[in-house]
Amino acid sequence: MNVPNIIKKAIESYEEGKLVAIPTETVYGLSAPIDDPELVNKIFSLKKRPFFDPLIVHGDSVERLKPLVKRWTALCDRLAKDFWPGPLTLVVPKNEMVSDLITAGLSTVGIRIPNSQLTIEFLAQLGRPVAAPSANMFTKISPTKAQDVMEVFDFQDVFTLDGGECQVGIESTILLIENDRNLKILRPGVVTQAKIEDSLKGYDYTFLNSDQQVQNSPGQFKEHYRPEKTVYTIFCSSREKAKELLKLKSIDVEKLSWMELSKNPIIAARELYSTLRAAASVGNKGIGVFMEREYLEKEAWRGVVDRLKKASGKVIIENK
Ligand code: TXA
Ligand code: MG
Repeated sequence: MNVPNIIKKAIESYEEGKLVAIPTETVYGLSAPIDDPELVNKIFSLKKRPFFDPLIVHGDSVERLKPLVKRWTALCDRLAKDFWPGPLTLVVPKNEMVSDLITAGLSTVGIRIPNSQLTIEFLAQLGRPVAAPSANMFTKISPTKAQDVMEVFDFQDVFTLDGGECQVGIESTILLIENDRNLKILRPGVVTQAKIEDSLKGYDYTFLNSDQQVQNSPGQFKEHYRPEKTVYTIFCSSREKAKELLKLKSIDVEKLSWMELSKNPIIAARELYSTLRAAASVGNKGIGVFMEREYLEKEAWRGVVDRLKKASGKVIIENK
């Protein structure tokens, strides 16, 4: 099938009561048009996702997303120009047309333009924004290729647009913008605070510390992105040290399969979920991941460290 026909089929799938899995640069999303409450409900039921966990709204252009928010400020515009289409979600005050079902009753909505040509064309043809969480079962590993989605959801429930492998590999950075000027990263990703600060030179804003009170941030669960096997992540000085530390906890290191991540955080992010999937699929008692102790303090590693900690049944950090 050629692209226009595939897009037509995806749009028809909504009319048939199916959800559409969309490729993005981060992970695949499980989408429904924001003005179709039945389909939006279906996202929660298929994923077994609790209703208090809000969904991100995706659009093909700033013009499509602007009507969803109360105020589109110069600061929002700067960030959109510098990072969209791309892996940054802005959380801003919402308008009435975004339902409480999507935002879990919050007065704000998360919005972004994903960087996938196929999805942007699909959204343009559809002419409506869509709500889309990652296309995995609640708390499980996010999908980074079409096959990952098709293995979990039945084709009678979900039509999957195949846009190849996701190039970023972990979910977008979520940036809360409070009172038009107070910023806080609710979920780290490849768009780091330093990159946002670079973009906002000359603008009036402050980054809030992690302990400063902000709007509540539902959906940031401690256990998430979990494969079927227990993951042991050890932040320490060497692989040998990692094994030693596990042995001290009476864990049989010979029965684990060891996972190797790139020393480049961008590549490590891209490979993280597919490597976890592969490591979980072989016969072993669990998965061992050795990470350099210093990654814990490096901003570029925040996204990968956050996902690995949540994927892990046990995290061990070597004393300094
Ligand atoms: O990269 C991504 O962001 C992917 C792709 C598909 O775009 N989507 C994604 O969605 O990761 P999901 O549902 O897995 O994560 C959405 C999270 C929620 O769990 C919540 O933490 C946060 O986004 N969120 C969404 N709307 C929010 C809001 N109004 N206020 C605070 N947090 C919000
Ligand atoms: Mg998710």
